[in-house]
This record gives sequence, structure tokens and C-alpha cells, in this order.
Amino acid sequence: MNLANNTVLITGGASGIGLALAERFVKAGSQVIVVGRREDKLREAQAQLPGLHTRVCDVASAADRQALLYWVQTEFAQVNVLVNNAGIQNRLQLAQDTEDWEARRQELIINLEAPIHLTLLFIPHLQQQPNPAIINVTSGLSFAPAAFAPIYSATKAALHSFTLSLRHQLAATPIQVLEIVPPAVNTDLGGAGLHTFGVPVDAFADSVMERLAAGEEEVGYGTSEEIRQAVRQVTDARFQLINNR
Ligand SMILES: NC(=O)c1ccc[n+]([C@@H]2O[C@H](COP(=O)([O-])OP(=O)(O)OC[C@H]3O[C@@H](n4cnc5c(N)ncnc54)[C@H](OP(=O)(O)O)[C@@H]3O)[C@@H](O)[C@H]2O)c1
Repeated sequence: MNLANNTVLITGGASGIGLALAERFVKAGSQVIVVGRREDKLREAQAQLPGLHTRVCDVASAADRQALLYWVQTEFAQVNVLVNNAGIQNRLQLAQDTEDWEARRQELIINLEAPIHLTLLFIPHLQQQPNPAIINVTSGLSFAPAAFAPIYSATKAALHSFTLSLRHQLAATPIQVLEIVPPAVNTDLGGAGLHTFGVPVDAFADSVMERLAAGEEEVGYGTSEEIRQAVRQVTDARFQLINNR
């Protein structure tokens, strides 16, 4: 994809991977709007990246997602790239943590329902724009789960699956469907200090953006690059067969 001359909407773009992508889109000459729940984090991101636009939105709320589309159509009708990046990760012990269904459900809603709903909401809008794209942020855990985060891993496997179908179905439209598959990256995902074993976010984001700019559709890094490709020969052939391309 061309990294310049876009108007990019990034969910969860005030921190971590989303903010690193925002910085690079801005540097390449695109306008960027970042969305999140915490207004103070959005302000911090704006101070760090002058020219950044922000919007408070809880993607867990279907009404907030609808309102986001309406706001984009009235304030930033030129948005041509949607980045579904917002996500949470909960560690849990399934034998003990059996009670707090609302907390469990939030992970499903934020990581899976929200990107699917936002995709459906934005498809008609994006189809009217030049060089439209949807970028989904999945995970290396889409391909092999981390059992300490069982629901998270399941949502990421599902989002990867949805992204493959989305790309197939939108092939006849101008909308490009791209997927970023991060390995463990050193961000505050799941809570501060839980991902310090991850790769540095800047090195990861530099590599991903370079490869998206070179035209790749699904991009991993390090261990996630290795695992996303490991079973591909068989599963890609099967995908072609099932979907009769
Ligand atoms: N870091 C890793 O190791 C890793 C690996 C694989 C995949 N990923 C994926 O990368 C994406 C970004 O995560 P990150 O590592 O950059 O962690 P992060 O710094 O915690 O970023 C997550 C962002 O999502 C936002 N968010 C969470 N729930 C939201 C909601 N309901 N509505 C709107 N925004 C919401 C958060 O902002 P607010 O709290 O202010 O809303 C935050 O800015 C996630 O999808 C994650 O699953 C990360």
C-alpha cells in the first residue's frame, strides 16, 4: 500500500503498536485519527505527535461504533484506511476463573465483535474513497495459542480467519485487506510490565510498514513470521480449493 496521502483511522492508536503505526503513517505523509477510551492517553499521543487527530470511543459499545462512523462521515469523510488494532488480553486459569462472565465477554467483544462490526460499518464508506484499505491486527497466537490467555488467543485465531474470508470476498472491490501479525511486542498489553520480553515496538513497526509499503498483504515479524508461514502451503491450497478461486 502507499503509506502517503491517506486518512487513517486507528482504533487503540494512543499507545503501543497503534501509536507506532500512527507515527509512521504521519511521517509518510498521511493524516491519522486515533481512537481509544482514555482521553488522557489520547492527549498524550497528540502531544507526542502534533497534527494527530483523536476521538474518544469505546469499541466495545455498538452504539459508539455507529457514532464513530457518523463522526467520520461528517468530520473526516476522506478516511480511506481503517486499522482494527484495539485489543485487550486477559490471563486466566480456566479451572478457577469460571465466574466473571462479563469480563470474559469483554475480551470477545473488543477483540472480535468490534473489528467485525467496524469492518461491516465502514465497507460502504471505504468503497467511496480512493485507495481504500482495512488493516486487521491479529497475532502470532492466531496460529498457536498461549494457553495462559485462552480467550484472547481464540479471538485472534477467529480474526485471522475472518480476515482471510474478508480479503476473498472484497477482491472484486477496491478495498485492500491487510493483516499485521505481531509476535510478542514490548507494550502495555494486558498490563504494564507483562510484555517486556517482547520485541521493541519501533523495530517491529518499521519492518511491518516497510513490507506493507512493498505490497505484502499479511505481515509478521520474527517468531510470528515463522509461524504464520509454517502451515501455509497446505492451508492456502485448501483455502483455494474450498473457495474455488
Ligand atoms: N503487544 C503484543 O505482544 C501483541 C502481540 C500480538 C498482537 N497484539 C495486538 O496488537 C494490538 C495493540 O496492542 P498493544 O500491544 O499495542 O497494546 P496496548 O498498548 O495495550 O494497546 C491497546 C490499545 O487498545 C485500546 N483499547 C482497548 N480496549 C478498547 C476499547 N474498548 N475501545 C477503544 N480502544 C480500546 C487501548 O486504549 P484505551 O485503554 O484507552 O481504550 C490501547 O490504546 C492489540 O490488538 C493486540 O492484541 C499485541
